[in-house]
Amino acid sequence: GTTLGGAAAEKGRYFGTATDPHMFSNSAYMTVLNREFNQLTNENGMKWDATEPQRNQFNWARGDQLVAHAQARGMRVRGHALLWHAQQPGWAQNLSGSDLRSAAINHVTQVASHWRGKIYAWDVVNEAFADGGSGGRRDSNLQRTGNDWIEAAFRAADAADPGAKLCYNDYNTDGINAKSTGIYNMVRDFRARGVPIDCVGFQSHLGTSVPGDYQANLQRFADLGVEVQITELDVQQGSNQANIFRTVTRACMAISRCTGITVWGVRDCDSWRTGQNPLLFDCNGNKKPAYDAVLAEL
Ligand code: XIL
Repeated sequence: GTTLGGAAAEKGRYFGTATDPHMFSNSAYMTVLNREFNQLTNENGMKWDATEPQRNQFNWARGDQLVAHAQARGMRVRGHALLWHAQQPGWAQNLSGSDLRSAAINHVTQVASHWRGKIYAWDVVNEAFADGGSGGRRDSNLQRTGNDWIEAAFRAADAADPGAKLCYNDYNTDGINAKSTGIYNMVRDFRARGVPIDCVGFQSHLGTSVPGDYQANLQRFADLGVEVQITELDVQQGSNQANIFRTVTRACMAISRCTGITVWGVRDCDSWRTGQNPLLFDCNGNKKPAYDAVLAEL
């Protein structure tokens, strides 16, 4: 393979990027996107604030545009994200209790139903666990509706789009630590009780190092029978950047249930991590050393 997507496909996997339809008119950007990637994640346009700006009034425009582009080119779509404590519309931020719970489940049902059959994997719940040593849930308006909100969301997503793989997605889960172990225990419990979960996403927003047990951590989740996916990969620029991209790619390729890698943007200047140049292409769309390191591992 001479492109990221092509090389990944030869190994039965995908290689994707976050993008947003407002970039689709930028031809320099689209040249790289269309050449290199065979999976797209909407960076912002499928989030709660974008899709349901007023209660029960849905805006599908950005997501529809992204799905159409992906379908026309045979790219998979990761849906991101049905429920999250961040980027909620104001009306939802002002709800609580059973009213918020029913609004959240309605959101899951409406959004997953709208794109039924078109999404490879949904991030059903994003970032619900706390950082630090507790291994427990993050406090949020959703968490305060009851600890069972996550399984309720997965059951609603499964009912709305039974063909999509349903994922839990989080960050700071790059090694075996209290947070990743808390998530591991939840996934093990869901599998044991038949709560429909198919995959775990590891965002992998990395600094200047990667934990030595990155692969072992992915493997323990894969051993629960779920797919694992690298969902938002970016790595702070520094002398180790290419090596860290190599380590992450190698770890995924070594695990049969690791089905794909998504980088969180195309070119350094497209990144949400302003000034950190954390991606595989420079601002002119030229391949960086990290690109060659990744391609060699696919
Ligand atoms: C980020 C986007 O990249 C930014 O454009 C936006 O302003 C904030 O959200 N974890 C996630 C992603 O799951 O949705 C976030 O994306 C980055 C962190």
